[in-house]
Amino acid sequence: MSPIFNSIGSNYDFNFSLKALGQIFAPDSDKNLEILKFFLEKEFEGQAFLFYKGRNAIEFALKNLNLPKNSLVATQAFTCYSIEEAIKKTGLKLIYFDLKAKSLNPDFKNIKKIYKKNPQIKAIILQNSLGFANEIEKIYQWSRQNKIILILDLAQSYGIKTANLKNLADIFILSFGRDKILDAITGGACILKKFDNKLDLIQNQVAFRQRLKDLTYPFVCFLIRKTYPIYLGKILHFLVKKTGFETNPIYNPVKKIAPLPSQYVNLIFRQLKNLDQSLKHRQKISKLYYQNLKNISLINQTDIENGVNLRFPIWVEDIEKVLSSLKAAQIYLADRWYRKAIDCGKINCQTDYRQGTCPNAEKLSQHILNLPTHQEIDETKAIKIINVISKLENNK
Ligand SMILES: Cc1ncc(COP(=O)(O)O)c(C=O)c1O
Repeated sequence: MSPIFNSIGSNYDFNFSLKALGQIFAPDSDKNLEILKFFLEKEFEGQAFLFYKGRNAIEFALKNLNLPKNSLVATQAFTCYSIEEAIKKTGLKLIYFDLKAKSLNPDFKNIKKIYKKNPQIKAIILQNSLGFANEIEKIYQWSRQNKIILILDLAQSYGIKTANLKNLADIFILSFGRDKILDAITGGACILKKFDNKLDLIQNQVAFRQRLKDLTYPFVCFLIRKTYPIYLGKILHFLVKKTGFETNPIYNPVKKIAPLPSQYVNLIFRQLKNLDQSLKHRQKISKLYYQNLKNISLINQTDIENGVNLRFPIWVEDIEKVLSSLKAAQIYLADRWYRKAIDCGKINCQTDYRQGTCPNAEKLSQHILNLPTHQEIDETKAIKIINVISKLENNK
């Protein structure tokens, strides 16, 4: 059986890789960008703007609000640094709120408590981590009462089944970045529900060199995955990391907001076309994990039904022991979301998060393991993962 990964381009098949290669020399197409904009505007009933990255979309959204200088932006701990990066670029300060204990969901009580102490909070960025919906409606109603802008970040949860979703936020953020639900290598969008854009959108363009790197990435990943069992993949993976060809997804190659190059649009539409099928697959694999690992699951059946199941989260006591047993069975899941309350990946970043302020998020990051649900995981592979974990659990 071929090795199992959480990432390394697991959302791309051979045809996708070819399609991406075919985009390298594709001419710019404003029409393609317009078609995508139109699609998103219809979907969310707002004004859509397309960017090279999801974090560009967050930065754009916040700058556009033109908030007073001393405003605070709140978001949940247990996240990656890219959100903080976007907030800081606007010059605004951020504050983190905690999650419920042993849960991926923000603690609404903690949000209210933090707001009471920090009435300068003018915007909240809410995420549905790993593709599971949280109490969006409750938080949105409360935000409106307190005149706080709610930004719903659907980077990990495009497609969640929440009734009336398009009316439950003031701004929506999407990411089409690596390992997201709509993985088109890179890309982001911001949909403004009720604000007009006040920013000049002529900004820096993505260099051809960067596009070349992006668009060859799926093919290289495909080669790595396919040749891993004969060691060639291991060497190739080592080389692409060593040469900087494969960067950490948290690393940002564009320092200023950049618009989406049109060459990524066809890839986004391809993932949109496959979305239903891919969500059904993810749900089926999630259900299998749940049936067999219920005792250590961090989600329940309703979460699986309503969520998009980007990864299946479990709570394990000794994470390193589980990871090494999995590795011995050629199951590589060390790419955990997240390894810290604010995860910088392997880049050197300075988070403003103060240790101890969100204890539940910190604890979660020490115990969470997310199991893959992507297209490469069939039932046999899922059972292989389940067997390794169950054996360790039973021997405790
Ligand atoms: C919830 C969430 N929002 C935003 C982002 C940023 O997306 P991008 O990598 O496209 O900038 C990420 C991923 O890094 C994310 O997980």
